[in-house]
Amino acid sequence: MTPDDLMYKPGLLKGERILITGGGTGLGREMAEACLILGAQVYVCGRRGQVCEETAAELNARHAASSGGWVKGLACDIRVPEAITEMMDMVWADGGPLTGLVNNAAGNFISRTQDLSPRAFDAIANIVFRGSFFVTLEAGKRWIAEGVRHRSVISILTTWVWNGSPFTVPSAMSKAGLNAMTQSLAVEWGDKGVRFNSIAPGPFPTEGMSARLNPTAGQRAYSDMSANPMGRVGRMEELANLAVYLLSPGSAYVNGQTIAIDGGAHLATGGNFSALRSWTDEAWAAAREAISATNAKDRVQRTV
Ligand code: HXC
Ligand code: NAP
Repeated sequence: MTPDDLMYKPGLLKGERILITGGGTGLGREMAEACLILGAQVYVCGRRGQVCEETAAELNARHAASSGGWVKGLACDIRVPEAITEMMDMVWADGGPLTGLVNNAAGNFISRTQDLSPRAFDAIANIVFRGSFFVTLEAGKRWIAEGVRHRSVISILTTWVWNGSPFTVPSAMSKAGLNAMTQSLAVEWGDKGVRFNSIAPGPFPTEGMSARLNPTAGQRAYSDMSANPMGRVGRMEELANLAVYLLSPGSAYVNGQTIAIDGGAHLATGGNFSALRSWTDEAWAAAREAISATNAKDRVQRTV
């Protein structure tokens, strides 16, 4: 991403201190880069600490000198409340309170729901539903105690919060829960200086997403764009521009909203995995095998 990809004046986010969970990869990394380009101090966290540190180093090498901002990578497993507290203590001690939070970390995979074990459900819900809430609560409690103004929390959801998604049910349930959090806390904490909005992206191809939602070649679970009204997937700068808008003081009166950015796909097609109803037992077995291989590869890199 370059400054020309963003529609904002340089320095727009100077003085902002933003935590992006899962910011070492994918969409989180893209949003981190945009915030850095606009002068923010950005923390990215994930279980693979080294991935986050490498991301920070690469983004800083590209933009820190020109923007005056920086990115720092932190190892944190948001499923563990004590680890979140420790991370927030570190961040607050490092340079003062956060001014923004992006709940972006997630886990997901396609599966027939009858094939899920309790551990499989928890593997998704503990990251998305519980983990995102714990991070929000930890930041929120500090902000309320400090009597702050102009804090912005955004959560990265999916369009399934409006119509569900067969074959990714733990994700659909968890994201819908975060949509309820967005609407509820927008009201409860609005007069405490903390506002809440969410983004519901359509397909923005990332390695993490493709490996678990389009796991097998030739079985195009989610990548067929012929029915998308715009005929294409999303561009990272399009998502980044929306995230920056919601994080910046210029959107201070926008509160409690979930904004789709999917080219209109969910209106045309449902934007979910209903097409997988035709899959055979063999197709599901192949998908599971491919997803398990990705999960095993990622597990090796985890430092927390
Ligand atoms: C059925 C499965 C399964 C599968 C795993 N499990 N894969 N069950 N079908 N395909 C079961 C396992 O058998 C096990 O249960 C349990 O889930 C935990 O599996 P582990 O592999 O041990 O889990 P873990 O190593 O903790 O990995 C967590 C994860 C993994 C969520 C499963 O995918 C992950 O860490 N993901 C992070 C990154 C990610 O998912 N990014 C994609 C985000 S994209 P048993 O009972 O057998 O022990 C996204 C896009 C949404 O969200 C919108 C698109 C438009
Ligand atoms: P991704 O690259 O796999 O991002 C997920 C990130 O979450 C990873 O960096 C992962 O890092 C982190 N994470 C997972 N579990 C964590 C935990 N317990 N603690 C801390 N961090 C954790 O996938 P992505 O496509 O960019 O997805 C980013 C967000 O966009 C997700 O919320 C996803 O649901 C949403 N989304 C994506 C799309 C899309 O098309 N890409 C569409 C709609 C919504 P570690 O493994 O190192 O922990």
